[in-house]
Amino acid sequence: MKIHKEYSLHAENTFGLPCTADCCAVYGSSAQLERLSAIARKYHRVHVLGGGSNVLLPPHLTGLLIHVKSRGIRLFEETDTHWIIEAEAGESWHNFVRYTVQRGWPGLENLALIPGTVGASPVQNIGAYGVELDQRLHSVVAWHIPEARAYTFTPKDCEFAYRDSIFKRSAPGTWLITQVRFALPKQWEPVLSYPDLRQEASLQDELTPQAVFDAVVRIREAKLPDPRKMGNAGSFFKNPIVSQQHFQALRDQFPTLVGYPIGNEQYKLAAGWLIDRAGWKGKPVGAVAMHARQALVMTNLGGGSLRDVDALAEAICTDVYERFGVRLEQEPVRF
Ligand code: FAD
Ligand code: EPU
Repeated sequence: MKIHKEYSLHAENTFGLPCTADCCAVYGSSAQLERLSAIARKYHRVHVLGGGSNVLLPPHLTGLLIHVKSRGIRLFEETDTHWIIEAEAGESWHNFVRYTVQRGWPGLENLALIPGTVGASPVQNIGAYGVELDQRLHSVVAWHIPEARAYTFTPKDCEFAYRDSIFKRSAPGTWLITQVRFALPKQWEPVLSYPDLRQEASLQDELTPQAVFDAVVRIREAKLPDPRKMGNAGSFFKNPIVSQQHFQALRDQFPTLVGYPIGNEQYKLAAGWLIDRAGWKGKPVGAVAMHARQALVMTNLGGGSLRDVDALAEAICTDVYERFGVRLEQEPVRF
């Protein structure tokens, strides 16, 4: 296992924040797990990093960083109804989705083009275009770093919620997800509930997993900034959940407000609409700004610092609360 001292993470986080880690262990396969735990015991702080597409890093990261680079995809099991596919944590999520669709194992196509790794996908229960990971998950194999022991989690064990799981809530350095298994139904049913997909003309002519995959890629490319060209970590805030009364009161005042019912007399609001309406779209603060096509995505205009990120985030949270009485919660994980 490679161990690096003074390891630069500048190019390893999609927001492009400058960061140097004291010590970095590059994890490549399960055979290294015992040794990894032994190394981790020497450090007071341990962090796990995948593709760095949902993190905000400090300029200097103390302790041990485990950088996940393991590779491998296999058919784990075939039942009458499902293909169970297992992938190593370090696989690129988007490449994995493309591979499953091409192999004739559909079900993940709505989650195309989400940056990052397979291992991080259960951490915030990734979701997009009408599908959340928990709907396709079979199990998660995770290594308890302090105990030096592997556990298998069923979807119920993962305590999934919107952009949340037991892994996201655990103390950093507790879990290293090593493999994720997906249950992909043999009887494919397209999910076209998301408005952007319902309106997609190309799907009227041809409705296949590959066509849905292609449509999702096109929609995302038109809306979201490419992190290789403009630093960002996807949605900067979660979409807030409010009571029915609060939603109604806001709708009366702002008829174009975007939100939809999620059961239990609760509504999920489009945070992008709130931020857009409050006038923050494209307005720079230091070297960061909310994206001109998607106000929920904070972008690095070049040389942005964590201080800039915090200043803009705080200004937006305060303003949105004063205007709409809604508290925004940050989505990316802060190390
Ligand atoms: P990282 O950023 O490296 O890590 C994120 C968290 O997961 C950290 O807490 C880290 O410690 C933990 N972690 C990572 N790997 C492991 C592991 N193997 N074991 C244990 N913990 C681990 N998210 C969505 O849900 N839907 C979207 O549509 C979406 N769109 C995005 C679009 C863009 C342009 C960008 C930049 C981001 C987007 N995201 C989206 C957020 C992000 O892509 C996902 O959260 C992704 O799963 C993060 O993967 P990663 O490997 O980069 O994780
Ligand atoms: N909107 C505006 N102005 C904006 C942006 C959005 O008015 O600048 C309104 C529009 O009316 C739009 C609605 O907000 O119809 C919703 O916007 P969009 O479809 O772009 O989705 P979102 O709610 O902003 C969520 C996820 C994304 C995911 C998409 C598609 C969260 C926090 N974000 O964004 O996930 O890709 O839906 O499912 O739930 C991420 O988590 O990083 C992420 C990108």
